[in-house]
Formats: sequence, structure tokens, C-alpha cells
Amino acid sequence: MTVMVLIGAQWGDEGKGKATDLYGGRVQWVVRYQGGNNAGHTVVLPDGQSFALHLIPSGILTPGVTNVIGNGVVIDPGVLLTELSGLEERGVDTSRLLISADAHLIMPYHVAIDRVSERYLGKAKIGTTGRGIGPAYQDKVARLGVRVQDLLDPSILAQKVEAALDVKNQLLVKIYNRRALDRARIVDEVLAQAEGFRHRIADTRLVLGEAARRGEHILLEGSQGTLLDVDHGTYPYVTSSNPTAGGASVGSGLGPTSITAVLGILKAYTTRVGSGPFPTELHDEWGEYLRKTGGEIGVTTGRLRRCGWFDAVIARYASRVNGITDYFLTKLDVLSSLETVPICVAYDVDGERVEDMPMTQTGFHHATPVYEQMPGWFEDISGCRTFEELPANARAYVRRLEELSLSRISAIGVGPGRDQTIVLHDVLSGS
Ligand code: GDP
Ligand code: IMO
Ligand code: MG
Repeated sequence: MTVMVLIGAQWGDEGKGKATDLYGGRVQWVVRYQGGNNAGHTVVLPDGQSFALHLIPSGILTPGVTNVIGNGVVIDPGVLLTELSGLEERGVDTSRLLISADAHLIMPYHVAIDRVSERYLGKAKIGTTGRGIGPAYQDKVARLGVRVQDLLDPSILAQKVEAALDVKNQLLVKIYNRRALDRARIVDEVLAQAEGFRHRIADTRLVLGEAARRGEHILLEGSQGTLLDVDHGTYPYVTSSNPTAGGASVGSGLGPTSITAVLGILKAYTTRVGSGPFPTELHDEWGEYLRKTGGEIGVTTGRLRRCGWFDAVIARYASRVNGITDYFLTKLDVLSSLETVPICVAYDVDGERVEDMPMTQTGFHHATPVYEQMPGWFEDISGCRTFEELPANARAYVRRLEELSLSRISAIGVGPGRDQTIVLHDVLSGS
């Protein structure tokens, strides 16, 4: 039995959707364990069709896989229905999707507060996706949240929405100068939406625990990335959940001892969307070059992604906080045609060389990259399927990243397609 956690090693958008899809054919279960529709996971099928998934696990595109939205996820019911119908219109079988009764709901007031509070932060804004993620998790922790199971009991639902709105409406009207929201309207709307998915509501931690006991393969698909983790990321410029591997256990109900592999998805360079520090960010033509060549435009918000060279300090940090057993290095093809490829091997923090993540926010803000230059390659590598077929300089680049990142690289992406992958080790079988 393999329970594999798949996580983003950087600031998200590393190619988790493609990686999940690649392993989808060999697992019985794919589970989302945190985040919500702030995620945008692109999957390109062998026939060239491209799908952008936000809330639904990427395993939905693989026939036979049962997909689970775990208890750690926050669900916008309207988005769920729209995403489901969009998939169905394109001929995707969505019958195998279960939703945890304990997952929290993103309500209209969460979305309203997310947007208006960002506006009030002005220059200090986080640059959220505006999907209500932070406010929904705030309510969960404040014990004011509305859960999927509340949809099964209209009177409890009404009480919970009323309790939440008591405070939210004060906030919206008195602080943010917005209109108050109507309880009955919200309750009626979500109850109507629930009709579209109530048959999918399940005790998913029981279902998954039983599957693990039967020895089935389970893939726990993270969204966002290590440095967007509310505990381990570049706080406060983070999301409001735990994308790191520990969150997979909490957000699915599978105990930590059942996890047998942690696959870190690592881009061959670095990108970030939204505000916050980013030591290797390029503000020159090279940043533009990576953005153009790598197609670095947000899947969820359409924002241009900030781009920079590979940062080994971050990769080492991701290896440590996630207990990464293997890396999937994506987008190596984007680096073809460069004379030299810089790698950030350490930081200079106020004149001192630092090999690991600085302890404080100030230290990270002051970090400037210490680069090592690797010779580049000019060949188109998108057709390579074995490591040996890669140009010698591309192989040397991969080996150097592996050495610096402290975990083995088991797969390499050379294009967006499922088959555009070089497999070095079989992560699922551990060989
Ligand atoms: P996710 O959020 O981690 O799933 O990543 P996104 O889907 O937001 O962004 C990754 C983008 O890179 C998508 O457009 C993928 O199709 C694409 N992609 C993934 N792996 C590769 C690769 O190895 N090479 C290239 N050129 N594109 C890739
Ligand atoms: P995937 O799963 C990249 C970023 C936002 C913002 C911060 C907080 O596609 O990798 P939030 O709306 O979560 O409160 O925003 O996190 N962010 C992402 N960046 N990829 C994502 O998801 C992201 N999800 C959130 O841009 O900086
Ligand atoms: Mg994405």
C-alpha cells in the first residue's frame, strides 16, 4: 500500500496537477486535503485537451479513480457546482467524487470580506485570490464556521449562518461601509446548491481509513506550496491553510504513520503570485523571458507570475519541513537556450552567507541570492524520455539541484503533457 503526499515545494504552481495526473492511473484514490478554489491546477491530457481544476482533485480526469474533497478543504458550493458541470459538459465522468461532511463552506460573506479587507490593506495587501479562503479558515478556527454536514440540517444551518452574520454584518456595514447580507437569502441559496451534491457527502475519513486498511493506493494532492503554508511559509504573505505534508494527515484524517512517500513538486526555476518577499525574483528581461517561455500566467486569477532563478535554500527547506522522499522537477524544458543557468545556492543576509532559511521575516527580506553559474544547453529537450537523452549540461544541472536540495529527483518534466516526463525512480513502488 502506498499513501503518497504530493506537495508544492515553492510558492505554488509547480505543476502539481500534471504530477497528480501522471500517477492517477496507478492509484485508486486522489484526495485534496487543504485550500479551496484559490488553487489552479492545469492538466494536459495525451489527446491535447487542457483542463484547469480549482477545487476538484486532479484525479477526476482519470477513469476509475475515486476522488475525495477532504475535511481540510474549504468549499464554495457555487464553485463546486460550476466546476462539476463544466467537467461534465466536456464528457468527464464526475460520479466518483466524495465530499467530507466536515469540510467547511465558503459563504458569500467570506468572499465579500476577503475582497474588501484586501482593499483596506492598501500597500500591505497579501494579494489573495479573492475567493474567501482566508475568512473561511478564520471562521473555522474561531469555531464560527459552517460545515458541509450543516447542509443536511436546515435549522442548524440557519442558526450557524445567523451567528456568523451577527458579527459579519457589523463588520461589513460599520467598518467596511458595505451592505448587510440577508440570512434567509444565504440559507435558501446554499440549501438549493446542496441539492446538487448532497449525494456525495460522506464520512471520508472512515472511507479513506478503510481503503488504506485494504492496501489501496492513495494520493493526497496538495494545493499551493510550502512557502505559502500558514506555519512554515513567508508569513504573513501566505495562504490560510497547511499545504505542507503534515497538513495532509490533518486534512484527510489518515494518520501520519500511514504516509509512505512524500513527493515534492519543484519547478526548475521559481515563481510566485501575489505579494511577499522573493529573493531570486528577476525584475529584468530574464524575468520576462521566464514568464514568456514558461507561460507563467495565473490559472485562477490571470495575474502574471513573478519569476526568478532556482533557489536551493528554499528546496532544502522544503525537503526538511515536508520530509520529502522524492522530487518531481518540472519545466526543465523552459530553461533550454540559455548560455548559463544561475542557481541560488545560499543567501547573503546583511553581509553574512546563510545556507538555510533565515529565522526571521526581516532576515528573509534582507536575503540576496548567492549564485553559482551552470553552463546551459541549446537543444530542444521536450522529446527526451530518458535521462541519458538529455544534453550533458542539462543532466549536470539536474544533478546539481539534487545535490543542493537534499532529496533525490525521481521524475523530470520536459513539457506540459502527461507523457513529457522522464522517470528516474518509481515513487509508487519505492524502487
Ligand atoms: P499547479 O498549480 O502546481 O498544478 O501548477 P499550474 O497548473 O498552476 O502551473 C503549472 C503550468 O506548467 C501548467 O500550465 C502546466 O501545464 C505546465 N507544466 C507542468 N509541467 C511542465 C513541464 O515539465 N514543462 C512545461 N513546459 N510545462 C509544464
Ligand atoms: P496552486 O494550488 C500560487 C497565493 C495568492 C496570495 C496568497 C494568499 O495553483 O499552486 P489566498 O487566496 O489563498 O488567501 O491567497 O496565496 N496563492 C497561490 N499562489 N498558486 C496557488 O495555488 C495559490 N493559491 C493561493 O496569490 O499570494
Ligand atoms: Mg496553480
